[in-house]
Amino acid sequence: ESHSCISNSVSSISVETESLQQQIDELSTFSDTPAPSVTRILYSEKDVLARRYIKNLMGLSGLSVREDAVGNIFGRWEGYEPELTAVATGSHIDAIPYSGKYDGVVGVLGAIESLNVLRRSGFKPKRSLEVILFTSEEPTRFGIGCLGSRLLAGSEALAKALKNTVDGQNTSFFDAARSASYAKDHEDLSSVFLKKGSYSAFVELHIEQGPILEEEGISIGIVTAIAAPASIKVDFEGNGGHAGAVLMPKRNDAGLAAAELALAVEKHVKDSGSIDTVGTVGILELHPGAINSIPSKSHLEIDTRDIDEKRRNIVIEKIHQSAITIAKNREVRLSEFKIINQDPPALSEESIIKAMEVASQELNLTHKLMISRAYHDSLFMARISPMGMIFIPCYKGYSHKPEEYASIEDIANGVKVLALTLTKLSLV
Ligand code: GLV
Ligand code: MN
Ligand code: MN
Ligand code: MN
Repeated sequence: ESHSCISNSVSSISVETESLQQQIDELSTFSDTPAPSVTRILYSEKDVLARRYIKNLMGLSGLSVREDAVGNIFGRWEGYEPELTAVATGSHIDAIPYSGKYDGVVGVLGAIESLNVLRRSGFKPKRSLEVILFTSEEPTRFGIGCLGSRLLAGSEALAKALKNTVDGQNTSFFDAARSASYAKDHEDLSSVFLKKGSYSAFVELHIEQGPILEEEGISIGIVTAIAAPASIKVDFEGNGGHAGAVLMPKRNDAGLAAAELALAVEKHVKDSGSIDTVGTVGILELHPGAINSIPSKSHLEIDTRDIDEKRRNIVIEKIHQSAITIAKNREVRLSEFKIINQDPPALSEESIIKAMEVASQELNLTHKLMISRAYHDSLFMARISPMGMIFIPCYKGYSHKPEEYASIEDIANGVKVLALTLTKLSLV
């Protein structure tokens, strides 16, 4: 009985690849840098237009659309038992400077299409199904990743910090939000928080952002855990001065302190004893930034991650010790050493892993269990809901650069696995 029902739904599942590809291409044109690169920064004009595009698609798919105070967008397909907690899926559409058009986007447009697939197949959800577009998964503008999902998961610390947060142009978070018509009435973000148990399951579809699936010729990655990310901001200050007139023994060069700390980050990460520990200095700024002026200030932002939280924390402590030692030896001031976030890893829910595995089997798609080294909104949704993630292959594992690419066939496979997984989760 139930078997015939499942094989029935598998055969009636079909993805409209042409329109999905067209949507991916069209969304990529909402960008502040020329194609093939994509740059879409939180609450910018292009971000607002892209959000409008998604809300319109949600409406065309028959979803009822709601937005919260920071612009998380929810599109709901009401189930026939609407009092049950819903099943959610989704991702982000913001894009870091000069990145590609698939990161996040596949999990939003693919999620909307997965509901279209189910509607066309005649499926009726028991639990409501919801697509979520998360605000600012990328840390680009305000320095904190997973801003929307972190707040949904109830981060009081972030809600408080945002009251004093500005971007690189000194625009406050709330002015930026208001310019995009969010957070209009007050600066209390507690309305964004969701209670634990608000969803019975959350599943995110995403490109792998690593090379494993493509190298091994496997269609579907089933994520078992997401690595623990952390980020740190550091400032050094020295006296600066004329690049010709101040002799070397008289200098306390804040730029060289930053350079030395960047090398220390690499050393501590490599010394962790595990290939799973990574660290990156992705931002290094010198002030005043003139060839003939000794840097009087330097600013670094350090990203470090591991699947082992304790080992990651030891690296952070070593980086802190190095910053102190370098400042002392170079007689510069360590004016800031601030841990912006230091998040634990997240585990996928066993029952959702199972549902994704069975869905892949039923669709005859090769699949493997894997961990996610990138972070995702799922890291925070896991705090309030059972969570799972579906990965699809991407070209050479490229991501966060314009060469990022996933074939529409691979995307369609991911959409099918997502659709079939949602049916299972909706009916329990
Ligand atoms: C998300 O984009 C990450 O940096 O892992
Ligand atoms: Mn990303
Ligand atoms: Mn992403
Ligand atoms: Mn700083």
